[in-house]
Amino acid sequence: MEVDFYSWISLVVRWLHIITGVAWIGASFYFVWLDNHLTKPKDGEDGDGELWSVHGGGFYHNKKYMSPPDHMPDHIHWFKYEAYFTWISGFLLMAIIYYYGAELYLIDKSKFALTSGQAIGISLAMLVGGWVIYDLMCKSALRKKPRLFAVLLFGFLTLAAVLAEQVFSDRAAYIQIGAMIGTLMVGNVFFNIIPNQKIVLADLLAGRAVNPELGKAAKLRSMHNNYMTLPVLFIMISNHYPMTYGSELGWLSLVFIALAGISIRHFFNIRHLGKMKDPYIFIAIFFILCAALFPLAIKKPGPKIDPAQISFNQVRTIIQTHCTACHEANPRHENFDQPQGGLRLESDEQINLAAQKILERAVSAKDMPLGNETNMTDIEREILRAWIKSQDP
Ligand code: HEC
Repeated sequence: MEVDFYSWISLVVRWLHIITGVAWIGASFYFVWLDNHLTKPKDGEDGDGELWSVHGGGFYHNKKYMSPPDHMPDHIHWFKYEAYFTWISGFLLMAIIYYYGAELYLIDKSKFALTSGQAIGISLAMLVGGWVIYDLMCKSALRKKPRLFAVLLFGFLTLAAVLAEQVFSDRAAYIQIGAMIGTLMVGNVFFNIIPNQKIVLADLLAGRAVNPELGKAAKLRSMHNNYMTLPVLFIMISNHYPMTYGSELGWLSLVFIALAGISIRHFFNIRHLGKMKDPYIFIAIFFILCAALFPLAIKKPGPKIDPAQISFNQVRTIIQTHCTACHEANPRHENFDQPQGGLRLESDEQINLAAQKILERAVSAKDMPLGNETNMTDIEREILRAWIKSQDP
């Protein structure tokens, strides 16, 4: 048996991405929480807010100062590497899976017959272009109208999702949008929040007047980051849920789930301030229901197939033509040497047992066969559907 380096590298990078992401998001949630729980220090005490807390056997006393204290500490911790390494590991992961394996994962020939180079080029251009446009928006007069800005930003990302779905495979489209949002978030930290804080600190220490625009700009971007967090987290796990990216309008499922994530974040942001009456948690549930139910409303009837006309031989032939290359004990497919997803579809029994899973991936989400290298047709998918439906008791 040989060592599968590709899988090991992908495992290590994915693990790293999750570790750094947890550290970044954990710190950022913690500071929002902290800010919302600070109380004014008692008369005579310094600082603009304080909080006592207990954790892991110790007592903590946090203080917030809007300007540096009289005696600058020798060491100030800047929270930034969590964000940078989340981006670096995320980009590496995307390169390992979606760029290196572009033909299988990034491209869907039934939508657009792109070459790997073209698909990767479009993906990179969207990452860079997304940041450039967003950054220009932040610097425009829009920054003075945060609500309008939020709506336009959401619209812009929705447009990007629609575009991504036209050119990439359904699940790559989701990851592409996740990578774009992640890039905006890290770009905010790297190009704006940290540099602005450094300038403010230097000005304060030198006794110069501080430009209030710097703080305002960092605050706006940090608020965007806060609301973008939950949608990105969903996208990170979306690959496990073919009913989302594989729905008839994958981008619309994403819009609904993103709105749910934003509502949940808003619920927590204002809950910290003691306002429990707000209905945002119900709004979030409503959006999840929308994501779950809208595909039923827009479903187009597929080619009509009479289950009585289908024999199991046809089903077996379809599976052997389009699936077993990757789903057998020793896959024939050049990229794989183990049954993918742990699924084997060699014997009739195995096919029967996996019927519901086959329905999910090859008929509903249509993301199997991976990359549709064998050009599976809609008729073949409908034959599978008719057969599986006829199995129901
Ligand atoms: C080119 C290789 C390839 C082909 C061909 C292929 N698959 Fe897959 N399949 C994979 C990979 C890789 C995974 C694991 C990753 C994932 O779940 O997306 C997988 C996972 C699955 C899973 C999920 C297994 C589980 O329990 O989580 C199902 C179901 C599935 N495939 C069904 C099919 C069907 C049905 C076909 C034929 C119509 C097919 N696959 C053709 C590569 C392939």
